[in-house]
Amino acid sequence: MTTSPENHPDPAAHAVLDPALRVGAVDRRLFGSFVEHMGRCVYTGIYEPGHEHADSDGLRTDVLELTRELGVSVVRYPGGNFVSGYRWEDGVGPREQRPVRLDMAWRQLESNEFGLGEFITWARKAGVEPMLAINLGTRGVQEAADLVEYANVSSGTRLSDLRRSHGFEQPFGIRLWCLGNEMDGPWQIGHKTATEYGRLAAEAGKAMRRIDPDIELVACGSSSSAMPTFGAWEDTVLELTFDVADYVSMHAYYEDPDGDPDSFLACAVDMDRFITRVTATADAVAARRRSDKVIRVSFDEWNVWYQSRFAGETNLQLRSVPRLIEDEYSLIDAVVVGSLLVTLLRHADRVAIACLAQLVNVIAPIRSEPGGPAWRQTTFHPFALVARLARGQVLRVEPGGPTVTTTRFGDVPAVEATATYDADNGELAVFAVNRDRSGAHQLTLDLAGFTRDGGARPELAEHTVLAGDESATNTAAHQDRVVLREGSGAQLRDGGLSVALPAMSFTALRLTTAA
Ligand code: AHR
Repeated sequence: MTTSPENHPDPAAHAVLDPALRVGAVDRRLFGSFVEHMGRCVYTGIYEPGHEHADSDGLRTDVLELTRELGVSVVRYPGGNFVSGYRWEDGVGPREQRPVRLDMAWRQLESNEFGLGEFITWARKAGVEPMLAINLGTRGVQEAADLVEYANVSSGTRLSDLRRSHGFEQPFGIRLWCLGNEMDGPWQIGHKTATEYGRLAAEAGKAMRRIDPDIELVACGSSSSAMPTFGAWEDTVLELTFDVADYVSMHAYYEDPDGDPDSFLACAVDMDRFITRVTATADAVAARRRSDKVIRVSFDEWNVWYQSRFAGETNLQLRSVPRLIEDEYSLIDAVVVGSLLVTLLRHADRVAIACLAQLVNVIAPIRSEPGGPAWRQTTFHPFALVARLARGQVLRVEPGGPTVTTTRFGDVPAVEATATYDADNGELAVFAVNRDRSGAHQLTLDLAGFTRDGGARPELAEHTVLAGDESATNTAAHQDRVVLREGSGAQLRDGGLSVALPAMSFTALRLTTAA
């Protein structure tokens, strides 16, 4: 598909971009991901000794390179549902002494060949911050505190010296900790009521902080906005964990189960509403307590996931390293991922952390084959693009213009957009989604605010587009069928910028505004 405006875009969408109108800083932690002991995310994903690209630690360097290119900042580990039955001690120390366990979440044989030390080694090589989840399903306060001692205490205690005896002289210095995973979900091993979970999380968090006062803690919010307990869960859990929690988690997966692509392309409306409701609940708890504390969001699982094609946790055969939910993403999925990134940025004042779930093979932007290649799925591209360009402050952008009618969300804006501005180097980045499958739309941006105080006229430095056949995918055989293309036809004049957004597309623009 051409990215020039020749295909007669009709009614213009428009927005004002002003460096003075700011939402909040772009926290690099918004570009996180997730590695779970599930399917082939760890084994034959990030770790495959014997692979031609494996390094001396058995880590796949081809996957490491793609992880760096993706621009991932923080990676959550080791689950997910897996963590709720996990004993962290199984995965440390001499490999030959580690037990094989039956993982209850995904019914996999867990060799424990890869554990915390291997993950930290991988994270250091990938240049990412580790985010660790503790087991509050089958375990409790003592095991959580022990794990913090093993990971973060320098030396001179039993568990810190145990870590040193395992070859890790320096502490891991893990700052971000999740107090369990999806504890509201009946599928979760050790599922709890909000009160049961809130009390346990508060006590675990308190003990963990006594070991390391510098850690940041994430309390479990709802597994999705569709959970019957959503809202009440956040209210109770935050009431009980208010003193220890820095963040409340949010999880959301989207798909098009009914062949309704227009609604699918608008699913960010749900994410937007979900964030607003969770933060409102957190603020209501703060108000009741007469507290100034602002609980922020850790959106530590989000993505497109065709859950309707998954047989479910209770229908799994016991296997060793199965192919689980290896969704092959199409171009439309990638545009949806772009729209979800726009939404996360638009809430940068409250969303501090976000993790695309997962990183490799399991509903992932990176795919790899055992003994074979690694490649970029379609969804890799919008993520890498936004992670590279979004810098500084998110600007408040409210596009107006044409709408698209959807079954699930009613009339929604055809064009959704956000922008970031880095005052240090004067770079402005604009991210825009055209949800309209029926045609291109012109987007007109008023940039007068950038020259108001004698600033230099903005210049276009980069115009990148993701558009084309909505069903196209990248596969091992055709790894680059869907790639980013250079856009054309964007025009700067009269203090504004006008750009055509192709039908069903994601566009990024980089402008320089410094003299
Ligand atoms: O990411 C896959 C699974 O989705 C995770 O294990 C769980 O937390 C969520 O339900």
